[in-house]
Amino acid sequence: MPYLYFFFNKIFYMRAKLIAANWKMNGSFALIDSMQKVLSPILEKTTCEVVICPPDVLLSSMNNTVKGSRIAVGAQNVHSETSGAFTGETSAPLLQECGVQWCIVGHSERRMLFGETDEFIRSKTETLLKHGIRPILCIGETLEQRESGNHEEVVVSQLGKGLSGLAAEDQLRCVVAYEPIWAIGTGVTATSKKAQEIHAFIRTIISEKFGNEIAENTSILYGGSCNPNNAKDLFTQKDIDGGLIGGASLKADDFLSIINSF
Ligand code: PGA
Repeated sequence: MPYLYFFFNKIFYMRAKLIAANWKMNGSFALIDSMQKVLSPILEKTTCEVVICPPDVLLSSMNNTVKGSRIAVGAQNVHSETSGAFTGETSAPLLQECGVQWCIVGHSERRMLFGETDEFIRSKTETLLKHGIRPILCIGETLEQRESGNHEEVVVSQLGKGLSGLAAEDQLRCVVAYEPIWAIGTGVTATSKKAQEIHAFIRTIISEKFGNEIAENTSILYGGSCNPNNAKDLFTQKDIDGGLIGGASLKADDFLSIINSF
């Protein structure tokens, strides 16, 4: 595993190239099979980590199909409690049983459509870490916030609250995904220059909170209308370590071409 190293019997995570697919409320059993067929040959050759986050009902099947391959299974959401009367929710221990290694938290659709607060997101992160699942913490501003020049403030606040109280080694297990809301599903991508600027800024904030070594070893992904045409330009930026891909992850050929952009 390229992103692990051991020091005094402790596991440390290193900055890795990572492409995560967020299928949202899309996908099917058939898509799992076609992804596996199209991706398998190339994954042997790439140094990039690949995670697919399908809807929960597909997790087990995805796990059975990709077991032993370079594709890791991710979830799109989790509850902060581990059991109880939370109709419709899924717990971290159950995700773990389904072979889930990663989980998205704080996606803007969860924040806006389901009213998730920074505090709730923070407690989900903690629960995931306790159950050995690596969180992908999403942050990002609205168009209004960007246009009024408040985007850095938003990012500082979401990051600060989302990671508050984490031990340094837990921070290393978290990946941050910067997803400007105005770029999600709109076909409008942040220019690579704009994306690089904010990614560098995010790394600085992590450095201020946890120190430079941790910041340098944290993977920061870009998300928002990433596609085969713009992926290379984004991924060659110094502080962009990969992508969280929505729409373009639903077509195996497009997703493959994004992975090949590294
Ligand atoms: P998009 O979605 O690639 O379709 O813009 C990204 C996301 O919401 O994670």
